[in-house]
Amino acid sequence: MKVLVTGGLGFIGSHTVVELLEKDYDVIVIDNLYNSELAVKDKIKQITGKEVKVYTDDLLDKQAVDKIFVENDIDEVIHFAGYKAVGESVRKPLMYYHNNLMSTINLLEVMKEHNVKKFVFSSSATIYGDPGNPKYVETMGRGKTTSPYGTTKCMIEQILEDLYVSDNEWSISLLRYFNPIGAHESGLIGEKPNGIPNNLMPYILKVASGELEILNIFGNDYNTPDGTCIRDYIHVVDLAKGHVCALDKLENSASGVYVYNLGSGKGYSVLEIVNTFERVNGVKVNHQIAPRRAGDLAEFFADPTKALNELKWKTEKTLEDMCRDSWNFMKKEIE
Ligand code: NAD
Ligand code: UD1
Repeated sequence: MKVLVTGGLGFIGSHTVVELLEKDYDVIVIDNLYNSELAVKDKIKQITGKEVKVYTDDLLDKQAVDKIFVENDIDEVIHFAGYKAVGESVRKPLMYYHNNLMSTINLLEVMKEHNVKKFVFSSSATIYGDPGNPKYVETMGRGKTTSPYGTTKCMIEQILEDLYVSDNEWSISLLRYFNPIGAHESGLIGEKPNGIPNNLMPYILKVASGELEILNIFGNDYNTPDGTCIRDYIHVVDLAKGHVCALDKLENSASGVYVYNLGSGKGYSVLEIVNTFERVNGVKVNHQIAPRRAGDLAEFFADPTKALNELKWKTEKTLEDMCRDSWNFMKKEIE
């Protein structure tokens, strides 16, 4: 099968390309390098021994997208490309709506013209809003989001559902990720945030490496065992494997819209992450307790039962693996 992976040089995309190549898929990537580097293509080759065809076009350029479908006999698409910084989306909503929505609509229109109707979408646990129960299950549906970024994910889910209603030949998988961290065990690919990171693990890495002075832990007065927030962290390689399972499901099932949580089902607190990181890597992460961050929920984690039953997928890596692999990638970057 020939798969087009949008955003395939980014954090989750690159790990998924590796897993697809290892399962002998033919992979084509479109990535405009907004948040990635062409060097990732060579890293993927170093890991898998296989070559990926990369187009550095922008999904906003519909003609360029069409050309990719003309030149390649694409069977299915995994759509990672988009902007993802929550805080930035609050400051620049139009930029987020423009890129995330227009690129998706262009892509879907071109797919339809070429009669390619299998689509896997990167959604997020953020679409649940605050459902009042920390264990998120797919039947809860979409809630009120707290950022334009989150709203783009809700809107795209809705667009995809409407598309299926209009034409039930489409097979669509909405994958709702929890908190992806970690890196490939080779240390060759991982997450490389520009500037000061917002997310926890990238911040820990920059403190551990000495690039930033101290980690602020946003609140220790939540109603959790140690007072810090609890999240469901998922190793990016487990997450990438979930995409291969989702494609396999689309190839072997009736058309429809399938929705899955991709998480471990287990929550860890911020302090547990910091302590585990220090223990497995033997490095210090300077930290202090700071005020709560606006918009944070005390606790949420996935109910991953549906993915287990229908995709035969579950996470395999431990928190220790996530901390070790994240640091291994960072060490290679700063060497
Ligand atoms: P990333 O920024 O590392 O990867 C996205 C890639 O898309 C980048 O390489 C970027 O250059 C490319 N891109 C962006 N706009 C483009 C455009 N118009 N045309 C072509 N390429 C474009 O992000 P990631 O962490 O790998 O996330 C992948 C997807 O998963 C995103 O849609 C994100 O919203 C979603 N997601 C991520 C997380 C997370 O914590 N990382 C959580 C939930 C959902
Ligand atoms: C955030 C986004 C979510 C997005 C996800 C993955 C918000 C409100 N939510 O989730 O929409 O899908 O990232 O990209 O932004 N923390 C600290 N200090 C830090 C950074 C984080 O204590 O410097 C804490 C946070 O309070 C939180 C936990 O670490 O409890 C995880 O934070 P983060 O990595 O930003 O992910 P989320 O907030 O869960």
